[in-house]
Order: sequence, then C-alpha cells, then structure tokens
Amino acid sequence: MNSIAKAATFNAPNIDQSDLYDREFHEWLKSNPGGTFSQYSVQDIVNKLKQGGKHHTLGAKLHGVEWSKSGLPFYKRLRRLADTPRYARICDYGCGSLRIGVHYIKQHNAGCYYGLDVTRDFIDQGVELAGDILHKRRAQVGTISQDLEKAVKFDADLLFAANLVSHVHPEEIETFYANIKRIVHRPNGVILLHVVEHPFMVRYQKSGWAWPLDFFDKKMQPFQRVETDFLRYFHKAGYFMNGYILVYKRPSASVSLTKNMAHFAKDKYREHKYRRKLQLQARTQD
Ligand SMILES: C[S@@+](CC[C@H](N)C(=O)[O-])C[C@H]1O[C@@H](n2cnc3c(N)ncnc32)[C@H](O)[C@@H]1O
Repeated sequence: MNSIAKAATFNAPNIDQSDLYDREFHEWLKSNPGGTFSQYSVQDIVNKLKQGGKHHTLGAKLHGVEWSKSGLPFYKRLRRLADTPRYARICDYGCGSLRIGVHYIKQHNAGCYYGLDVTRDFIDQGVELAGDILHKRRAQVGTISQDLEKAVKFDADLLFAANLVSHVHPEEIETFYANIKRIVHRPNGVILLHVVEHPFMVRYQKSGWAWPLDFFDKKMQPFQRVETDFLRYFHKAGYFMNGYILVYKRPSASVSLTKNMAHFAKDKYREHKYRRKLQLQARTQD
C-alpha cells in the first residue's frame, strides 16, 4: 500500500451518506475498498481529461492559456519569495503536468529538480509537453508511493506545493505534512505552501478545504513561518476565504550539530563547483 493509502483508509460501511461532497467518493470506495480520497479524485480528473476535458492546471488542454505559459506567473511569484541559486535542489510536490516545474527545470542546473505526484498520468503528459528538456537537465519525476525515499535522498533545499494543499483530504493530512518535512530535512530548508485560509476549517467544494493559518503553522512544526504572501480573496459556498503562499524555514537548531556541519560543507562544495563551472564557461567564451 502506498504512503498516502497508509495514512487513512475508509471503510465503506462507516460512511456518513449525508455528506453531499463525499457521495461519489463513497460509491467509488465500494469497488476500490481501502482507497483514498486523493486516488479517487485523481482518477476522476484522469477520466475527464481522457474524454477531452479541460482543466485549470492539469494536462495539455488548459482553460484559456497555453501550457508553456500557464505556470510562469506562479513560478515568478515563488522565485520572488525564495530566490534560490541555480544549484539549489527543488522538489515540486504535487507537480501535476509540470507547468510550473518546467520553469525551474529550465532555470536551475541539471539534476536539480524532482517532481512528485500521486499519479504518473499527469506527470507523463507534462513529460511529453516539456520535450527533451527533462532529459537534458536530468530532471527526475516519480510517484509518491514509489519514489518518496529517492526524493528524501535528493536532499531538497526548497519544496513547493502549488494548488495542492487545499485538495488534501483531512484524513490524508498527517501523511502530507510528514512527507514534505521528510523531503526538506536539511537545516534552513524552505517549504512554500500555497494554501486557502478561513478562520475555521471549511470544505468549500468536493475537493477543497480551507484552514486557519495557525493550523498550517502547527502542522509545519518545527518549521517556522517566515513570510506570508497574500494572493487573493475569494467567496465560495458561502465562505469568504484568502489564498496565500506561506514560506516556512527549517530552523538550523532543529537538526543536530553534525548534520548542520555536514550540510554546511556540502553547500560550500556545491557553491564552489558552480563557480568553477562558470569560470570555465567564461574561459571557453574568451
Ligand atoms: C490542481 S493540481 C496542481 C498541479 C501543479 N502543482 C500545478 O499547479 O500545476 C493538484 C495536484 O496534486 C496532486 N495531489 C492530489 N492530492 C495529493 C496528495 N494528497 N499528495 C500529493 N499530491 C496530491 C494531484 O495528482 C495533482 O497533480
């Protein structure tokens, strides 16, 4: 069973059928016992895309904008919030069809991108759309169920989760936060979470949950929130909510002295290697 499935499984007989938003999910569980909401909801979208449907973020056919351009504004915003050097390692958690990830792949050094998602269906579409840049830049992609450990070893400096946190079912929340904090285990590692805020938890659509900001802070401990970037305000299902990107940093004091020193040495080496590469490039241009 994958790490998401392990987090929470539902038993069809215990279901509260009055929950309007979960009615179809509960039907699906009858033929997929032990399945999770994320598996169900991903399958639902995969089926719609296969029938030629459009989506705001997934697949090749996006609402009103070309795939190659659609992730650019979000990418720029993330970069403004965390201006990482080109040799920084980036994990795109819930990467979907790579519409944001492709810009990191283009801008960062080879081997510096790892995209993870629940399903290969969305990733494969992104791989096709991105063309040979993935291969050239040695970008890695995989599923959370199979590749989580590889992503932990990747030793990300920064992880971002865009258009995802609000879709995580409450029963899968523990796994979600545990996974992202495992991936960013280095001191001063950064996590950028795109969230929807409301003063108390609300479910505003079938796959949409808003939580208070201090809920995210608690789940992210020992990470500390260092910036709160307001995106927009919106109104849905009778609730007034705010979209934010929350910037969290892992305090160096939360990891051992040995690990701090090891990472310090690793960072110095990476920086040195990058500078040497630039010098060599400059020399060959002369
Ligand atoms: C709305 S899409 C956003 C994709 C991408 N981040 C973007 O902005 O283009 C949400 C993505 O999160 C993935 N996802 C859904 N639930 C998840 C979970 N519990 N853990 C990780 N990824 C999840 C979906 O498969 C999907 O690719």
